[in-house]
Amino acid sequence: MPDSQNKKTAVLAMCGKGGVGKTSLSATIVKILSSNPANKVLAIDADPAVGLSTALGIDVTKTVDDIRNELIRRVESGKSTDKTEMLSMLDYEMFSALEEHKNIAFLAIGRPETEGCYCQVNHILKDLIASMANNFDYVVIDGEAGIEQVNRRVMEKVTHLILVSDASRKGINVAQTIKKVSDDVVDYEKAGLILNRLRNAEERDKLLIPPELDCLGWIPEDETIRSFDIEGKSILEIDESPAIAAVENCLNVMFS
Ligand SMILES: Nc1ncnc2c1ncn2[C@@H]1O[C@H](COP(=O)(O)OP(=O)(O)O)[C@@H](O)[C@H]1O
Ligand SMILES: [Mg+2]
Repeated sequence: MPDSQNKKTAVLAMCGKGGVGKTSLSATIVKILSSNPANKVLAIDADPAVGLSTALGIDVTKTVDDIRNELIRRVESGKSTDKTEMLSMLDYEMFSALEEHKNIAFLAIGRPETEGCYCQVNHILKDLIASMANNFDYVVIDGEAGIEQVNRRVMEKVTHLILVSDASRKGINVAQTIKKVSDDVVDYEKAGLILNRLRNAEERDKLLIPPELDCLGWIPEDETIRSFDIEGKSILEIDESPAIAAVENCLNVMFS
């Protein structure tokens, strides 16, 4: 893996069908990257269900959506009209929404916007996330499903797209569809597939993976990951496990 010196921010986004392991793998990747104290890692939960915070043992006090709603309320009640004032308020609020633990910072996006467009507000928030991201070596985004949501709600500057699938045909088909859409809308440096929760190498060998998905490796079904999730314990607290070692291998392939 590259060291954190003299390099620009790597923005990793996890996408794939629901339930395939995006949140677990995001948390595992944050754990691996932050194990080097020289790396500053920003974890972004872009899933409205807010699962990454639990997987990392972090309490969320405020989401980007809360900040957005607060701003909209102010604008609609005629309170906040001065643009400079509005920007400095947002800047302050965004930093206060950032939860920091050693070399890991965490930001939750919250729910997708429901009514109205408020495009300007969304643009400002996205610009703020992008400038925030520049202060980190790695950004790990736990996506909702497709890359469009990440692009629309978080940031467009994804450099590494990680497609996650289990062994199911459905999961792999979804990964393939996301890859097709991403090729049109994202200017990433690298995209690759991680197969999660496989029983053994034989199961992997039996799977027909379209070559354009660029498989980075596979992660075994891991009792530790499962039981930590059941107990609501942080993945950061796992000492070692087969899944963590396998994710590390996948990252090495991705960054090689
Ligand atoms: N490698 C693994 N081994 C065992 N259980 C896993 C593994 N990866 C994910 N899981 C479990 O699968 C379930 C779904 O994973 P999750 O990360 O929440 O998926 P997603 O975020 O894609 O919806 C969770 O209960 C999680 O603990
Ligand atoms: Mg999830």
